[in-house]
Order: sequence, then structure tokens, then C-alpha cells
Amino acid sequence: MNRFTRGRRRSAPLPTPRRGLRLDDRGVAKYFHGRTEEISLFESLCHSAMESNGGAMLIIQGPPGAGKTALLHECAQHARDWGWQVAGIPHDAIWNKRSLRNSLKPPRFWTNFDLQSISANIAGFGGGGGWGLRETAPLDLLQRHVRKTEKGVLLVLDEAQALYSADVTGSEKNAAVITLDAIHNGRLGKPVVMLAGGLGHTHIGLSRFEISRAGSEDLVNLSHIDAESERAIIGDWLRIEGRAKGDAKHWVDAIAHETEGWPQHISAYGQRAAQQLRKDNGRLTSGGLTAVLVTGREDKSRFYEHRLGEIGRYERPLLGLLVVCCGRNAAWAHVHLTAALSAIEGYLEASPHQTVDTMIQRGVLAATTTRKYHIPIPSMERYLVGYARDLEQEDGVWVQEIVNDVVAALDKAKYKPAPDRGSPVLSGRLRDVLAQMVAVPALHNRGTPSEAFPAE
Ligand SMILES: Nc1ncnc2c1ncn2[C@@H]1O[C@H](COP(=O)(O)OP(=O)(O)OP(=O)(O)O)[C@@H](O)[C@H]1O
Ligand SMILES: [Mg+2]
Repeated sequence: MNRFTRGRRRSAPLPTPRRGLRLDDRGVAKYFHGRTEEISLFESLCHSAMESNGGAMLIIQGPPGAGKTALLHECAQHARDWGWQVAGIPHDAIWNKRSLRNSLKPPRFWTNFDLQSISANIAGFGGGGGWGLRETAPLDLLQRHVRKTEKGVLLVLDEAQALYSADVTGSEKNAAVITLDAIHNGRLGKPVVMLAGGLGHTHIGLSRFEISRAGSEDLVNLSHIDAESERAIIGDWLRIEGRAKGDAKHWVDAIAHETEGWPQHISAYGQRAAQQLRKDNGRLTSGGLTAVLVTGREDKSRFYEHRLGEIGRYERPLLGLLVVCCGRNAAWAHVHLTAALSAIEGYLEASPHQTVDTMIQRGVLAATTTRKYHIPIPSMERYLVGYARDLEQEDGVWVQEIVNDVVAALDKAKYKPAPDRGSPVLSGRLRDVLAQMVAVPALHNRGTPSEAFPAE
């Protein structure tokens, strides 16, 4: 009886998994919209590469969650549609032949999605006879690989900011310089394009390898998505994924107000909205919307906590205070940031210089075109001001002292505030200013939301 029961249990079909509440908010976009300019730029680079049998490199850099990986995937799909080979490569593939070779091999488990590129890969090696290549520099390997391709080759290097801090010197560095130069300047005899995506310091990382950029046409600074595409993405999540019944405009308005054009947030809120709608059989209720906004804000906080990572307990409010002192979307030179951080030097977990570098590497600070650094996501800025507010509530006198020291340090480091910025911190209104800067603006068309929608 026992055995029978056990047997039955074993062979009984597993219950259908419950619809998960997990958030899948990174990478390939389920409902991709927008980025038409960036995709046209990519297409025109590939087109020129095909016409001249040359090469090109396109750097797509931007803050966390701006949609770099999603855009790389979209471009890769275009390339596949033209019959190009597409290979995802890790950053060390530009100097490490083993790593490059592995990237050019078919994946261990083939999927329908990959079959096109796999067959192209095999064709590219003349019927698959190429795996036993002799040990050579990545460039030779790449040359041999591309020689037999019919169309072009697209190398996709995501998370390319790793090049910024990669420990690579001597012959490896030379190999990287030669490989990148050959791609960038089209010396492989076939159309080869490299797409490098990464955080805002990616181009600085690549410049370590002597990539000379003639102009800005090969660098995309990815930021917000345009309002129309934002609404289209939210609309798809609601209508297609959530099967919303009726006019969803009101929901789209409320969600877009919270997501502020940031793809990561759009994707997270979109998924939460779809989950809620599925639960409510597609009915667009106001209780459902409130639940989506509350969960969405929790997701946003988690996202920022994750990004802030090892950035310490006092460094976070200091960034918030910098925003208060210099205004929203201010940009600072490295030297201004280290000067400001020295105002709390005794509390830092590393030197001011190292702390700034960590902030850059975590994507909390991003380089502008003038090599200054800013906090790249508006709601992250607000989040950091929230830390400053909390610290001020703990010890207002101390925080006012820090502010005074920061202002003096910035002055000494010759920081020039934008002309339209006042100096709210000196007027004794620090607490009010912090409260105003942290407040989430009222939602469109919804009266005062303060009770239904808790502050971030
Ligand atoms: N154009 C778009 N249309 C629809 N969804 C998008 C678009 N761009 C990005 N997304 C979605 O937004 C989320 C964040 O995008 P993605 O993971 O590509 O960002 P990222 O810049 O690569 O972030 P990270 O720096 O963390 O790697 C993902 O869920 C992605 O599918
Ligand atoms: Mg990514």
C-alpha cells in the first residue's frame, strides 16, 4: 500500500506552477518600443561596413536599467535577420583567445533561437572543422573565423564597463589593442561590427586600449526612453500581458508618472500591473492600481539598494546632500566629489578617491560628455536625498555642519554652481528643502495622493 501510494505520488503529474510574482526586469524586452535613432545608427554602421567590407565599433553606454542589454538584443536580432553571424563575447575575449574561441563555438544546449547563428557558425568554420585551431592571438582567430563568412559578423560585448577596471597589461594588453584596432578600423577583410554595451564609463574603459574615436557617431549615451514609447510599453504590459478590459489610459498615466521614462521601472511596474490585472480578471480597479503603485515603489527601492551595494551608510546621505547643495542633475568633476567626501572623511569606509571610483563603478555616478559625473537617474537622486533627510532627522545639527563643510570644500575645489541655483542650505531651511526634494509629486489627474500612495 505504501509502495503503491509512493509510486502514485511519484508518477502523478506535478501541479501547474502558480503564476509567479517574481520580477524579470533585466535584459531582453518582452515588449520592445522606441530607440529608433539608436537602431538606425546601428543599421547605418552595419550598412557602411558591408559596403566597404570594413568594420565598426558602436558603444552603447548608460546607467543601470537604461535598456542597454535590451537594445543590444534588438540590434542582434536585426543582424540575424540580415544573415549575419552574431556572437556574444565576454570582455576578456579581446585579449584571451580561449575566451574568444568559446564565444564563437555553438552553445552546449541549442535552442531554436540560436539555430540560425549556430548553422552560420559552422558554415563559417568550413563545416565545423575549425575547433582544433592552433593557439594564436585573438586577432588571428577572428580573422580565420570571419574569412569564411558570407555576410557579416556582429560581436556583442555586454557589461563592457568591466574593461575600465580589468587587470590587463603587457602582451595581453597589446593583443587587445591590436584586436580592437582591427575591428574598429575595418582591417579584417569582412564586415565585422562590435557592439559594446555598458555603464557610463565604458568609453573610458575602451580608451585604455587606444581606441581613437573620431567623432561621437560611434557612441550612444542611453538615457530615458521617449514618452510615447514609454506609454506604448506600459500599454502592452496592461493589454497583452494583463488582458486589461476597457480604457487603460488612467493606469498608463499613473504608471508613467512613477516610471519617469526609465526602462527598468517601466518594465517592473508593467509586470506588476499585469500580475495585478490577471488576478482581477482584467478589471482596472482603483484598488488594483494602488497595489501596483505600492509594489512598484518597493521594487524601485530594492533596485536602488542593490545598485548602492557596498556604498556606505554615510556616503549615501552625502550624495543626497550634494544634490541639495548643488541642485538636481548637477554634475561634478572627480575632484569636486572627493573634496565633498572629505567633509566626512572620518566616517568613510575607503579614501574619498576610492569611494568616488566605487560610486562610478556601481553606476550611481555616470560620466557626462564633459567628463563630469552626475547621478544619472532622477528617482535615484530623490532616493539619495531621502538618506540625507533621514540623517538630518537623526541629527540635524551635525548634518547642517556637514553641509557647511561640503559647501566650503566645493568652493575651495573651485566648483562653479549653475547660475540659476540658489543656496537653500545656507538659509536655515535645510529640513524643509530636504522634505520638498524627497516628496513624490502628485499623480496626474488624481487629486492629492498622499494617503493612497506612500512617500518613497
Ligand atoms: N526599449 C525598450 N522597450 C521595452 N522594454 C525595455 C526597453 N529597454 C529596456 N527595457 C526593459 O527594461 C529593463 C531594463 O533593461 P536592461 O536590462 O536592458 O537595462 P541595462 O541598461 O542593460 O541595465 P544594467 O545596467 O543593469 O545591465 C528590462 O526588463 C528590459 O527588458
Ligand atoms: Mg544590462
